[in-house]
Amino acid sequence: MGYRNVVVGTDGSETAAAAVRHAAQLAKAFGARLTVVTAYAQTAGAGADATDVPDELRWMVTDVNGAEERAGAGKAVAAEVGLDDVRTRVGKGDPAEMLIEAAEDTGGDLIVVGSKGMASASRFVLGSVPNKVSHHAPCDVIIVHTV
Ligand SMILES: Nc1ncnc2c1ncn2[C@@H]1O[C@H](COP(=O)(O)OP(=O)(O)O)[C@@H](O)[C@H]1O
Ligand SMILES: [Mg+2]
Repeated sequence: MGYRNVVVGTDGSETAAAAVRHAAQLAKAFGARLTVVTAYAQTAGAGADATDVPDELRWMVTDVNGAEERAGAGKAVAAEVGLDDVRTRVGKGDPAEMLIEAAEDTGGDLIVVGSKGMASASRFVLGSVPNKVSHHAPCDVIIVHTV
């Protein structure tokens, strides 16, 4: 028993950082490789500073630069844990689909996500990303309880 390739998703939120920390600690314990994934949706005018868009869009990562920044921040969190072999992967599209694709492409045997993301302040339910990942993942899934 053990994990060789861990995939974790982050939207740059504090709670996702807790999921990244958890994933990095697991990867370190198992001597596994870690891939930090951030998906973005190129939605014009839906940046975090926009005021006239619904929350669901407002909290999305909206461009490739923002995604790279957030994935890089995740890599830094993993480095704090003492994990050096960390890849980042950013792409445009649905976060859950991208996490599953990343697991398929990297021989991932574990996907780690947080229970909440950037929209959590207005939500009392499990985030849509962990919900979807849990239904379609080709491997084990850990939903880190982040509140
Ligand atoms: N754009 C994204 N790219 C990669 N992973 C993400 C992204 N957004 C969310 N996640 C993952 O899903 C978890 C839950 O977020 P989400 O489902 O978006 O909840 P919420 O609806 O509260 O924002 C996050 O902690 C993170 O692990
Ligand atoms: Mg979200």
